[in-house]
Amino acid sequence: MASFAVKNICIIGAGNMGHQIALSAALAGYKVVCTDINQEILKQAENFVDTYLPQRVTKGKLTEDESKAARARVSFTSDLKEAAQDADLVIEAVIEKLELKRKIFADLDKICPPHAILATNSSYIVSSKIADVTGRPDKVCNMHFFNPALVMKLVEVVKGPHVSDDTVEIVMEVCKKMGKVPVMLQKEIYGFLVNRIVSAIKNEALYIYDMGVATPEDIDTAVVHALGHPMGPFRLLDLTGVDLTYYISTERYQETGDPKYKPSPIIVEKFIKKEWGRKTGKGFYDYCK
Ligand SMILES: NC(=O)c1ccc[n+]([C@@H]2O[C@H](COP(=O)([O-])OP(=O)(O)OC[C@H]3O[C@@H](n4cnc5c(N)ncnc54)[C@H](O)[C@@H]3O)[C@@H](O)[C@H]2O)c1
Repeated sequence: MASFAVKNICIIGAGNMGHQIALSAALAGYKVVCTDINQEILKQAENFVDTYLPQRVTKGKLTEDESKAARARVSFTSDLKEAAQDADLVIEAVIEKLELKRKIFADLDKICPPHAILATNSSYIVSSKIADVTGRPDKVCNMHFFNPALVMKLVEVVKGPHVSDDTVEIVMEVCKKMGKVPVMLQKEIYGFLVNRIVSAIKNEALYIYDMGVATPEDIDTAVVHALGHPMGPFRLLDLTGVDLTYYISTERYQETGDPKYKPSPIIVEKFIKKEWGRKTGKGFYDYCK
């Protein structure tokens, strides 16, 4: 039996992933505090919640009371201490930079109650690269949601060698209470399950594009119609953020020196031009129109 039941969840980072994980948790009955260093992003996250919940009521997916109760359970602050001091579980969703995550986990270790579990939503970084900055490595694990987190059911929970059975049990329980479908990875592996498979497709699509063989639209059309994916690799790149792909491939390339991880020329170009996809209004597609 798990050693405690999670009641309070703290989400670090209110960006693409964080605000939707926060709202999913609030809808599942958890008390949630979401924090970000960027006030504008925090405001956008709060506005999203205030728009999304009434829309669900209009669509008949939530009652007025359920919507009000979920809204009352989620709050936003830029103060990390205020956000994390009562947390039973923290889910970190800041940008994919190892040193930043290590710094945040070291701070969290000082702020959070001793029993609290510290999870990272990182797409690629295994928690053993972070856990050693805390005095509770057995309570540090990967909890990888998918985008958009309100819709996508899968969560990859990774049991690194330092993670206790109790931690995994509690995290799997939280996923289920949030209406998610968790899968447990018994070992740490770079990119976990899904991103390893998706990356192979994405890298091949970028290679085909860089070779001048076909446009993003045509490559996406081919993948959607032939493989039955809900969207093609370029639409997916725009959704997840071109910046994220840039950070991930650059970091992996620097770490391994393996040319297969070197960011594709078009990713570098779009990163420099700040054409990061939906979040900046333009990526491989134009969202300003
Ligand atoms: N985008 C995706 O599709 C996706 C999917 C699954 C997992 N992830 C992972 O989730 C994490 C977040 O990705 P994202 O796409 O939401 O990024 P994002 O850039 O949209 O959001 C990150 C947020 O972190 C905030 N931040 C930066 N430093 C901070 C700090 N010190 N304290 C608090 N907040 C801080 C930023 O202001 C920003 O709002 C990454 O690790 C990524 O690998 C992303």
